[in-house]
Amino acid sequence: MINTPAKNMLDFFIVTTSLKSGAIHRFKCFGIGDFSMTSLRQALEKELSAKELKLVPNSFDVVGNIAIFSEFPKELKRKKRKLIGNTLLKLNKNIKTVAIKTGKYSGRYRTPKLKIIAGEKTKETTHTENGVRIKLNVEKCYFSARTGTERLRIAKQIKKGEEVLVMFAGVLPFALIIARHSRAKEIYAVEINAKAYKYGLENIKLNKIKNIKSFKGDVDKILPRTNKKFDRILMPLPKSSDDYLELALSKLKKGGVIHFYTFVNENEFPDAAVKRIKKFCKPKILKITKCGHYAPYTYRVCVDFRPFSLQRKAASGYCCGSASNRPSLTDS
Ligand SMILES: C[S@@+](CC[C@H](N)C(=O)[O-])C[C@H]1O[C@@H](n2cnc3c(N)ncnc32)[C@H](O)[C@@H]1O
Repeated sequence: MINTPAKNMLDFFIVTTSLKSGAIHRFKCFGIGDFSMTSLRQALEKELSAKELKLVPNSFDVVGNIAIFSEFPKELKRKKRKLIGNTLLKLNKNIKTVAIKTGKYSGRYRTPKLKIIAGEKTKETTHTENGVRIKLNVEKCYFSARTGTERLRIAKQIKKGEEVLVMFAGVLPFALIIARHSRAKEIYAVEINAKAYKYGLENIKLNKIKNIKSFKGDVDKILPRTNKKFDRILMPLPKSSDDYLELALSKLKKGGVIHFYTFVNENEFPDAAVKRIKKFCKPKILKITKCGHYAPYTYRVCVDFRPFSLQRKAASGYCCGSASNRPSLTDS
């Protein structure tokens, strides 16, 4: 079983791997999953030319028992890919499937395109992170094992009795970690991807969690129809979270905190992120955290802030849907 890495610095992890034998191995690595890259290269020395060996990617992610190479050079054709995949399977008995990413996270559901190159032909797996089990299909749902440290960072801030909203909830990794590692009263989660929502419900049962309320649909449709307000709102949709900031502000209790995720270019860090928030409110910035890379020189950033006063547009009240079709937000 491969547990969530403890992060030492950006993109540098200690991965703890507990083997079936009970032995614990700790590997220092860059990214997740490259703990066996040296041995992988060594094992391939007789099978690949020196030029091909150099092309073998430096790292891979591990989600449950699926190893995922984010980038795989086109020069390594089908046979060589299969060879690399099969060698990885032989070296690491915890990995059952090896896949390569053939398309970036895209579309409304932020899902990747994956191709299996070796092992079991399944894209469904159960990932373990900080004592929580997260079942998902790695191609049908968004999930990043690299965000584990960030999820715990948020959970640790939550005070007893808080009512928390996770917008863009996916298969519920944030909600589950918050439920497990905080004393939040209730965690509301909204997700538009029906498949991710379904896995989320399964994950609630799998982890025997009682205080998550999960809703399927567009935050833009679901949230304006309830009067409920929250102590804390998470917005883990960095690509377009600005589009929903006005909505989030309208659902925040006085004195509440928003965790706003966005992508920021290295040259514009952190000003660009704060500027996006200032379009909607006057914020008291609590913390700005780099929590991953989106592209070269582009960080995934979380701004923790407390709004002081709203700009006029947001203050006027976010409004859509009519009172007559307001769902009660109890129908998970
Ligand atoms: C970047 S993923 C994050 C998922 C999850 N929070 C996580 O950290 O793994 C964003 C998620 O938001 C969902 N989403 C996008 N637009 C949405 C909307 N308008 N309402 C609800 N969910 C939405 C996508 O389907 C996707 O699962």
